[in-house]
Amino acid sequence: MANTAIIGMQWGDEGKGKIVDLLCPAFDAVVRFQGGNNAGHTVRFGEHHFALHLIPSGILRPGMRCVLGNGMVIPPDALFAEVDKLAAAGIDSAGRLFISRRAHVILPLHIALDQARERASGGGSIGTTARGIGPAYEAKASRFGLRVGDLEASDFDARLAAEHRRIGAELERLEAEVPELATLREHCSAWRERLAPMLRDTEYLLAHWMREGKSLLFEGAQGTLLDLDHGTYPYVTSSSASAAGACTGSGVAPTRLDGVLGVLKAYTTRVGSGPFVTELEDETGEYLRRRGNEFGTTTGRPRRCGWFDAVVARHSRLINGVDAIALTKLDVMDALDEIQICVGYRIGERLCRDLPSSMDDWQRAKPVYVRLPGWKASTEGNLDFESLPENARDYISTLEREVGSPVAAISTGPRREETLIRASTELHRLTSGRLTE
Ligand code: IMP
Repeated sequence: MANTAIIGMQWGDEGKGKIVDLLCPAFDAVVRFQGGNNAGHTVRFGEHHFALHLIPSGILRPGMRCVLGNGMVIPPDALFAEVDKLAAAGIDSAGRLFISRRAHVILPLHIALDQARERASGGGSIGTTARGIGPAYEAKASRFGLRVGDLEASDFDARLAAEHRRIGAELERLEAEVPELATLREHCSAWRERLAPMLRDTEYLLAHWMREGKSLLFEGAQGTLLDLDHGTYPYVTSSSASAAGACTGSGVAPTRLDGVLGVLKAYTTRVGSGPFVTELEDETGEYLRRRGNEFGTTTGRPRRCGWFDAVVARHSRLINGVDAIALTKLDVMDALDEIQICVGYRIGERLCRDLPSSMDDWQRAKPVYVRLPGWKASTEGNLDFESLPENARDYISTLEREVGSPVAAISTGPRREETLIRASTELHRLTSGRLTE
């Protein structure tokens, strides 16, 4: 039975939610291992239509178990709001949703600090989702953090007061309002009670399931270029969004991970600030944004749009060891006359095929494009590779050649059924043969 990670290969919003949803039947549990409610995807369930930010969409499948791993940062109120929304749609998560005691709590203090810092940094801001992600991970790394399991600890009150003093001092310096300690205490005791039935030492739970022969699907949030180590630092999120994070963020050993499915959008988008060499600030960019509905699920911000960047995708293939690619939103490009793929960067006199590590290089990098003719025909809902327009097939083979991994699935529309699966030994292996059964 294979344990597989699904990882975003760009700056997030590649459409991982849909691919996870599609692959779910081949797995017994879905595990999130990093990030918090900065992520998000919209799910449709019968008449209901809502966004999930913390709980994997796998929860919509009867009997599917979901784990929020130790690598996550969790604001309990946002979690309960999702549990309640699910319940209102008739989906009971009790006994199927488990949270690692080692996951960290995002306190209202962290949210206030994220917002105050972004406000104070003006034009130089990261453009965070303002959900307190960075400050919560900072607290974790500096060992001031409070874990969800610590809500039960005998010294919890003292540690909460210390965190209140520490963050309160910075909020005061930034002339921002400091949440009351008494109110925080009230929140924490409500959280303690409601979280208790969901808390587990999830590394042992996962080990137990693996011993029983169950398959785990690791659902990455954000994307590799937002990874704290391997992304466009400092314009990144504060967690390990690449495949290695699946292990540190869940307690499942690297030797137990069987493979990685990388998700790539057929073009590129990013939200927030930071380098984006293939960005299109013209009508083609506007076309992609409109046709691709490129507006953030979490913040509603318009996403920046641009051509496919093979330098970015190659970096992600390397960092994640991508076995196969799921290519999304191909249909969004249907109406374009010409399509460009960035195959390298020109940085001063140098021609680079690898991703720069310094912001100075990023700022000077200019895209080197190959141009391909568009296909000018509808691919919407197409489920047969051979019947895709020839220019669309050429586009996909050029991407495969440039990136170095095979495209095993192609999404040609927003609905789950609108996904073309190619006969592929890699995908067969990553899903233990259960997807095609
Ligand atoms: P943070 O994760 O809120 O700290 O934001 C850091 C950077 O990551 C910002 O540029 C955000 O726009 C970006 N980011 C965080 N989560 C997502 C996501 O789920 N999709 C796309 N970008 C994200």
